[in-house]
Amino acid sequence: SSELPGLAEAHGIKLGVAVAVNPLAHDAVYRDLVTDHYTSVTAENTMKWQHVQPERYEFDWSGPDLVVDFAEDNGLSVRGHTLLWHNQQPDWLAQGFFDADELRAVMREHTEALLGRYEGRIDSWDVINEPFEENSPELRENLWYQTLGEDYIAEALWLAHEVDPEAKLYINEFNTEGGGEKADALYELSSSLLERGVPLHGIGFQGHFVHGNVPDDLAENMQRFADLGLDVEISELDVRIPEPVTPEDLAAQADEYQYVLESCLAVSRCVGVSVWGVTDAHSWIPEWFPGYTAALPFDEDYAPKPALGGMVEALSRN
Ligand code: G3I
Repeated sequence: SSELPGLAEAHGIKLGVAVAVNPLAHDAVYRDLVTDHYTSVTAENTMKWQHVQPERYEFDWSGPDLVVDFAEDNGLSVRGHTLLWHNQQPDWLAQGFFDADELRAVMREHTEALLGRYEGRIDSWDVINEPFEENSPELRENLWYQTLGEDYIAEALWLAHEVDPEAKLYINEFNTEGGGEKADALYELSSSLLERGVPLHGIGFQGHFVHGNVPDDLAENMQRFADLGLDVEISELDVRIPEPVTPEDLAAQADEYQYVLESCLAVSRCVGVSVWGVTDAHSWIPEWFPGYTAALPFDEDYAPKPALGGMVEALSRN
């Protein structure tokens, strides 16, 4: 067992990890890495729409239940991920040609089913995932936007709040960790939602970073959102390295992990940091970014990397 959970708790933050259903069910060493080193879990895929409601009115709770039961059995909190997203939608939804009223009904059915099932057991939800275009400040023209207009965001938050009034409701986004046009747009959206009284409680900054390119203003950027009265967190941290990976790269990556944790500690409303996968053997990076690898704190053989020490280092300071 490691010192990380105790250190994170001493700072009042959670240290989380994204988990995949298959190894969680079948790999005891994987499970031990999660319970030894982390205090929170996110379902990497299994709570997404495609998995939860693959056909209309047909719900599959096997994966979500496994994650939530595992978390409860081991005293871990759960980040709910995710309700509305342009990816991993089932065909019946993505190609359903619903008009606005029908789509609102679909949104309600799914929200009531998913948030309702875990009410009181999942304390925060990524209600809105990646509402902006990849590298621009424009709202993404996803299914929800196309059919309901930009107010789909407020509608989804109100609905989630109605279904689970205690849950902290988040917008989760990437390429907004440091300042810039896209972060500014997210800031404007957040502040206008709050001005209207919409139940938005937090912002997840995903944190899919490239080694050598971690923004140097993480704390400053998170702080302005915190100053609006929002919780903030780094929700999907990984730091990918171009191959071949050298020992120097891994040492520098440790500094980057340390810096991200320290940035969270510098912002009193930063509630935690979650890494996006348990080991490099389970990371999404090699499939999605060929030529990049080694993004997580444990290697492909489940051995700790310097990055794990970077996290310990950050949390060991007052
Ligand atoms: O489910 C199929 C399985 O049936 C098939 O045998 C297998 C063969 O490749 O593929 C499985 O699907 C994979 C799916 O994850 C598992 O549900 C896809 O190939 C794979 O591309 C998909 O990738 C996920 C990705 O989201 C989808 O957009 C990653 O694992 C997951 O880490 C990633 O997570 C996202 C966050 O939700 C939001 N932020 C960005 C982050 C990284 O993209």
